[in-house]
Amino acid sequence: MGYNVAVDGPAGAGKSTIAKLVAKKKGYIYVDTGAMYRAMAIHFLGKGIDPENMKAVAEACVDANVTIDYEDGVQQVYLNGENVTDKLRTEEVGNMASKTSQIPAVREKLLELQRGLAREKDVIMDGRDIGTCILPDADVKIYLTASVETRATRRFEELKEKGVPCDYEEIAKDIKERDARDMNRETAPLRKAEDAHLVDSSEMTIEEVVNAICEYCR
Ligand code: DC
Repeated sequence: MGYNVAVDGPAGAGKSTIAKLVAKKKGYIYVDTGAMYRAMAIHFLGKGIDPENMKAVAEACVDANVTIDYEDGVQQVYLNGENVTDKLRTEEVGNMASKTSQIPAVREKLLELQRGLAREKDVIMDGRDIGTCILPDADVKIYLTASVETRATRRFEELKEKGVPCDYEEIAKDIKERDARDMNRETAPLRKAEDAHLVDSSEMTIEEVVNAICEYCR
């Protein structure tokens, strides 16, 4: 069994930025489970599947094979052999992932991939249900959050910097909707594990958050 650090929290809390930095500092492998749900979402989008149609989504899981690999320490995600890493981070894919990740067949499909990685390697794995469902015996559990305003501002600045036209109110609305879906779903909802350390990054710098998490880790 590897040394396992589980990081859960809502969209935009900075989980992946922080987890990547902790991984580098501590020599762990960073596992981004949201990317796996996003790869499944690309599969469903490609097939034109309605995310509200649970049966169609479950059936479409049969011919989806998500695997991951590392190139210079960076996670690469493959969908049926095709590297889809560069296609994962669009709003369309994120929204499809948020909707379809509620469906048990989708979660079951990715469970073994996630657990297998944690068994073999020292990992810091981020997602929504890592500390509660995937790795209930993780060595360290972190629940990383930030206020909706902070998360929306960060996203707004990020998009502005990339020159993508965006509207703050729209982003905040989207974040609230995604939180509601992730937290209120029946299967593996987002919640803080009882034994997770709560880290609220609203008033913290990236470095402060990384240091706070590293303090909890071996
Ligand atoms: O972290 P992210 O934005 O890349 O995740 C995309 C969606 O996938 C998110 O809205 C919820 C879902 N997800 C999940 O249900 N469980 C995880 N462990 C990771 C992500």
